[in-house]
Amino acid sequence: MSDAAGQPKAWGGVFREPTDARVEAFSESVSFDRRLADDDIDGSIAHARMLATCGLMTVQEADQVAQVLEEIRGEIRAGRFEFTAAKEDIHLHIESALTARLGDTGRKLHTARSRNDQVATDLRLHCRRAIDRLDAGLAELQRSFLGFAEREQDLVIPGYTHLRRAQPVLAAHQLLAWCEKLQRDRDRLADCRRRTNVLPLGSGALAGTSLPIDRDHVRDSLGFDAVASNSLDAASDRDFACELAFVAALTGVHLSQWAEEWIIYSTHEFGFLQLPEGFCTGSSIMPQKINPDVLELVRGKSARLIGNLQALLVLLKGLPTAYNRDLQEDKEQIFDSIDTLEAVLGVAAPLVAGTRFDRERLAATIVGGHLDATSLMEGLISQGVPQRTAHEIVGKLVRRAMTRGVALADLADQEISQDYAGWNAALRGALGPSRAVERMQSFGSTAPAAVADQIAVWRRRLGVASA
Ligand code: ARG
Repeated sequence: MSDAAGQPKAWGGVFREPTDARVEAFSESVSFDRRLADDDIDGSIAHARMLATCGLMTVQEADQVAQVLEEIRGEIRAGRFEFTAAKEDIHLHIESALTARLGDTGRKLHTARSRNDQVATDLRLHCRRAIDRLDAGLAELQRSFLGFAEREQDLVIPGYTHLRRAQPVLAAHQLLAWCEKLQRDRDRLADCRRRTNVLPLGSGALAGTSLPIDRDHVRDSLGFDAVASNSLDAASDRDFACELAFVAALTGVHLSQWAEEWIIYSTHEFGFLQLPEGFCTGSSIMPQKINPDVLELVRGKSARLIGNLQALLVLLKGLPTAYNRDLQEDKEQIFDSIDTLEAVLGVAAPLVAGTRFDRERLAATIVGGHLDATSLMEGLISQGVPQRTAHEIVGKLVRRAMTRGVALADLADQEISQDYAGWNAALRGALGPSRAVERMQSFGSTAPAAVADQIAVWRRRLGVASA
């Protein structure tokens, strides 16, 4: 039986009609799964070598298969390979090119294999490589935040809750907060990699094979940690892709928070940060504009990362056991998540490396907003005042300062004594943003010594050589 393009169907013995051309166009995946070519070839070479050790192919045949597959790989990379919707997917393209060159030897490659376990294996190889690249990109971004933190180690900036001034913090402390979030994203990636790195090949279509194969041999060749132990599960499992999409989505959410924060900090109104001009864009009509488009796109790209995760979950929902063609729809989503996050990381790290705080502007604004109120309250607590009472006293003092339009430190002793009779000079040591930061002593706080320790920890963790 031949298909519409006149090619014999690879598995077409049973068919009396060629595939309808509309079905070919509807069901092809080669337009997007061609990016699995390297993984498919790696998997096929490992499979052929295994077939040879098991006597299902001769060693010489396996050598020929490997050699021709490498030739095909070279042609695909060079853009000299012809793709056609008539051959459905990348797996059939590569196998039919092999068969066209090697005849019956090529026709042996698919022994003890189904496209179901083949595509599952290819996708795992692909995700595994992507995970390693994403991890490297995240580490690079962490190093950019760490470098920035080290340059700004002594700088005190306003900390915000509800986007209202709250307590002063070291700029380095805030920058290291991103290192923490990204580290958890990396930990999640590593965890996802463990479950991704399990070999489906050898599961056949769903039930395994009656042929004497050696799955451990393939596992070793392809660097998988384990062989999947249930063929039905392995040929249809896409959890690993969902996990990767989830990690990408959550990382995207983290990066959207960072982008939003820096968009705000770099506004004319805040003026805390100066973004590198190479990472800003202008306006076609307003000559003065220097816009944070890169950060806006980072924020916006999180939407597609979240969308891809949702599409994958909905795709899997309610699927009957083992392979269903629906699973072909997993690829564009997971590919897009990988590409999107890689693109974001590619611009985020240099953007962070090129950004500076405006120290003058910060020095001028840090005194506003009564950032030291909590410090003063804790000073009172240290002198024996119950917390609720101390809170109320300092609240009254803030109201006084607000009414007069001054900082807490500008209130005279006499004035303060009207709200708190126990006022003494030692309490002045709690006032002022820098002193508020210096008085911190809890582990994980913004205290300069704690932040210096954390910088040392991150240098070790990220393999940054000591200065
Ligand atoms: N292109 C298919 C996919 O991506 C490959 C597996 C096809 N298997 C099948 N029995 N039709 O899922």
